[in-house]
Amino acid sequence: MNGCIRGSRRQISTSSLRHTLWSFMDTPEPSSVYRYAQDHLLDEPPQIAQIRQSAVSQNPSEAQKMISPLQGAFLAHLVCTQGAARVLELGCYKGYSACWLAHGLLSQRSQGSPCLWTCERDREIAQVAQQNIKDAGYSSIAQVVPKAAQDVLESWDSAIKLDMVFIDANKAAYKSYYDTILDRSLLSEGGQIIVDNVLLHGRVHTAPDASAESKKLTLAQKINDFNRHVAEDSRTTQTLLPIFDGLLLVRKK
Ligand SMILES: C[S@@+](CC[C@H](N)C(=O)[O-])C[C@H]1O[C@@H](n2cnc3c(N)ncnc32)[C@H](O)[C@@H]1O
Repeated sequence: MNGCIRGSRRQISTSSLRHTLWSFMDTPEPSSVYRYAQDHLLDEPPQIAQIRQSAVSQNPSEAQKMISPLQGAFLAHLVCTQGAARVLELGCYKGYSACWLAHGLLSQRSQGSPCLWTCERDREIAQVAQQNIKDAGYSSIAQVVPKAAQDVLESWDSAIKLDMVFIDANKAAYKSYYDTILDRSLLSEGGQIIVDNVLLHGRVHTAPDASAESKKLTLAQKINDFNRHVAEDSRTTQTLLPIFDGLLLVRKK
């Protein structure tokens, strides 16, 4: 598998994708541009497609938690081009994005032995994910950690530096995850944090500012607060891409 990201390039039917495209511009149907990219330039390995298809057929609305195939390919591309060897994912669900990250790890020529940890606080779902990862052929480099994301970060051995952390767990806790990663110095030199759903289907940029007296922030306000916190952080450089459901790329300076 070394050398490049490889999978089976094949047409994915619009109906099978309908449930996995919610995160692009929040449209119920894929745009023609998106469909073009998906149909012509996406290599979704069959063993990874199998996880998506099975999740969609078991519970279409829950399956919307997963990233889209294009986003998966994008993450694998980032892992591969960064030459990442150690990746931590917060929020595994059934292992779909984890398998894309593992695919990226195996697709590059990094010197170190690649390793992916993906945490999921729901133990039953964590078991399904571990089985899916095994069936897809990535269990030699990927393991599911059945714990809450914050606990994983707080107990992480800071001698094991991470090249990438993909944050996709509890959205209300993004700020805490981010600060724990940086305060505990868990990233390697040039390591990056990728955060999903920072535009929350267009609700973040339109969220009213929280009033001084309101104690309870909406989720959109919390994410807005998080985005501002990251933007003002001198420890990192940041880029917010208005693709998928808003993808924030953060690099340690
Ligand atoms: C958006 S889904 C992850 C989807 C997955 N990254 C993918 O694209 O295939 C979020 C997952 O995080 C889990 N989760 C929520 N809060 C968590 C927490 N505090 N710690 C760990 N996992 C959490 C949920 O049970 C859910 O399965």
